[in-house]
Amino acid sequence: MNKKPWAGRFTQETNKLVEEFNASIFFDNRLYRHDIMGSIAHAMMLAKVGIITKKEADKIVSGLKAIEKEIETCLLPNEPIPDRSASGTGKFKFTPDLEDIHMAIEKRLLEKIGTVGGKLHTARSRNDQVALDIRLYLRDEIREVQRLIKELQKSLVSVAKKNLDCIMPGYTHLQRAQPIFFSHHLLAYYEMLKRDYERFEDCYKRINIMPLGAGALAGSPYSLDRDFIAKELGFLKPTDNSLDSVSDRDFCIEFCSASSVLMMHLSRFSEEIILWSSQEFDFIELSDAFSTGSSIMPQKKNPDVPELVRGKTGRVYGNLMSLLTTMKALPLAYNKDMQEDKESLFDTIDTVKDCLKIFSPMLETMKVNKQRMLDATKRGFLTATDAADYLVKKGIPFRESHHIIGKIVAYCIKNKRVLDDLTLKEWKGFSKAFEEDIKRAISVDASVNTRRIKGGTAFETVKKRLKEIEREMR
Ligand code: ARG
Repeated sequence: MNKKPWAGRFTQETNKLVEEFNASIFFDNRLYRHDIMGSIAHAMMLAKVGIITKKEADKIVSGLKAIEKEIETCLLPNEPIPDRSASGTGKFKFTPDLEDIHMAIEKRLLEKIGTVGGKLHTARSRNDQVALDIRLYLRDEIREVQRLIKELQKSLVSVAKKNLDCIMPGYTHLQRAQPIFFSHHLLAYYEMLKRDYERFEDCYKRINIMPLGAGALAGSPYSLDRDFIAKELGFLKPTDNSLDSVSDRDFCIEFCSASSVLMMHLSRFSEEIILWSSQEFDFIELSDAFSTGSSIMPQKKNPDVPELVRGKTGRVYGNLMSLLTTMKALPLAYNKDMQEDKESLFDTIDTVKDCLKIFSPMLETMKVNKQRMLDATKRGFLTATDAADYLVKKGIPFRESHHIIGKIVAYCIKNKRVLDDLTLKEWKGFSKAFEEDIKRAISVDASVNTRRIKGGTAFETVKKRLKEIEREMR
């Protein structure tokens, strides 16, 4: 007969298809450590307020700790989403009839310590339990994501420092625009990652509120000590509304949103790495260890890693959309739709961590073609703006000087010349204001190093920012 924990009011067994369809254990099993952590705190609290005895609590706690060990021995280490094949090599069974990890652990507790195990779920619902578990789990994952962001920032700094004097074209519209230091370009990504880090930090604040005690939806008739549990589990405070506690998945959405922005940054960076490693650019070369070959074209060396990061960005966005859509029409409070939060969330966590992990060594091992980058600044009139600014210094209004330089560029294009090799006579043909020092003013070196303004690309400015960054990262 039916052995479900909720079987009391049922006279028929659950249809096998329903059992499979309803089950989340094959993906929510990764919550097991946090589920046990939450249950231990709950049991201790029940004893503290006298709902169960200290002895009963001790029995429950040691039972739960033993179950944690059992699960550890039958889950494959580092297996992110164990599938059905992981359904139990050890004593702990992952089977769909137990529906989810919460009920599977409770069932195992009953097997191990007998009927006293049945006291654990007093004053608790799976609705507040699962909300607690995800919060506990996500807190740890955020810290890990943040650690990986820092690692990547460190790699950026180290590559920037190794290539301090490397000058490259800066682009707008993917057209050569003005020369910049390569290190300055890299540090732009440092700033993006810094904001990403802060977004996760901000998300953490709203995760770090404790929902247990909300019960199924209306709160609990027992005089529970919610502050005790919050403190025990390191939460800032208990939640303030029981309905909201069990129906809120904002924190999952926020995590997926912060992850989407982070992936957008990694994807833009990937795009640049892909472009830069093309023969058309030839600015960098990824190490063989971070590239792949073609099954047909023997000469190929492909940037699969950044391409995959760019590709995976789509699925992280998709997960965010999926969560938003799942939640958009749910009446309060809990609805089973919300079980669909997990795969989107877990997949986002795994994807983001994988991408961050691979990015650092990929950057650190890539070869930077300094000369190619510098050569690229010589074609495309990248210092035309500097020539215009030169005239401004001689008292010519910018709009006018812009026009004059435009004419000079057109002249160069027509006669296959570059600014660098125009004679003073030719310059003067366009404006009497030009003197010998125009040659220096339009050099790539002068162009970058006059941009000493805060946030600019000048060598000294970038070096100063690097110093600040090293202090920030300590
Ligand atoms: N497995 C469920 C989930 O992930 C746990 C909560 C179930 N609650 C319920 N009332 N059926 O959402």
